[in-house]
Amino acid sequence: MRILTLCGSLRARSSNRAILRAYERVAPAGVVFEHYDRIGALPHFNPDLDDVDAPPEVAALRASLAGADAVVISTPEYAHALPGSFKNALDWLVSDPAFAGKPVAILHAARGSTWALDSLKEVLRTMSARILDAASVLLPLNSNQADEDAILSRDDLRRLLARSVESLTTELGRTKNQEADASGP
Ligand SMILES: Cc1cc2nc3c(=O)[nH]c(=O)nc-3n(C[C@H](O)[C@H](O)[C@H](O)COP(=O)(O)O)c2cc1C
Repeated sequence: MRILTLCGSLRARSSNRAILRAYERVAPAGVVFEHYDRIGALPHFNPDLDDVDAPPEVAALRASLAGADAVVISTPEYAHALPGSFKNALDWLVSDPAFAGKPVAILHAARGSTWALDSLKEVLRTMSARILDAASVLLPLNSNQADEDAILSRDDLRRLLARSVESLTTELGRTKNQEADASGP
């Protein structure tokens, strides 16, 4: 099982990145993570470039997406919206057929506002992703200083992340079985 994570923050000590790294650490062996970390290197989205051969950075992102069974996202909110660089990355994926139907879990630090979360869900629905509500969690994490170890040292956060991973892997396993049954003997 391969999971691609997308972090909406470019900050070196991003708490959203720490959440995604902590997520990997509570996942069972056999779940392979790729933490995509090149959002800041993507060119500005331009439909003219989308029509022809995609720029190399975009092609690399799309290849990572195509190879993933699911995507897990954690993003901050900037001025009641998604960070521009992260929305730019999503814009590059709008026309990518690999995104349609892709299972997506959202990990969101509840810092008292949900504009970015609502916006993210709306964007993902528009892109025809399959948002896994049962695997998406609101984390009671108020600080943007939290690192991976600090997150994992809290039982409540650890439990929420573990429950999300379990729900995600169960759902992916169920989908794979259905696909195997449908393809027949
Ligand atoms: C430019 C800017 C705008 C922000 N706007 C909001 C906001 O509208 N609502 C909010 O809850 N937090 C806002 N924040 C706080 C960030 O969401 C918070 O610092 C978060 O931890 C950043 O994520 P990171 O730790 O992954 O970098 C803003 C931060 C910055 C730098």
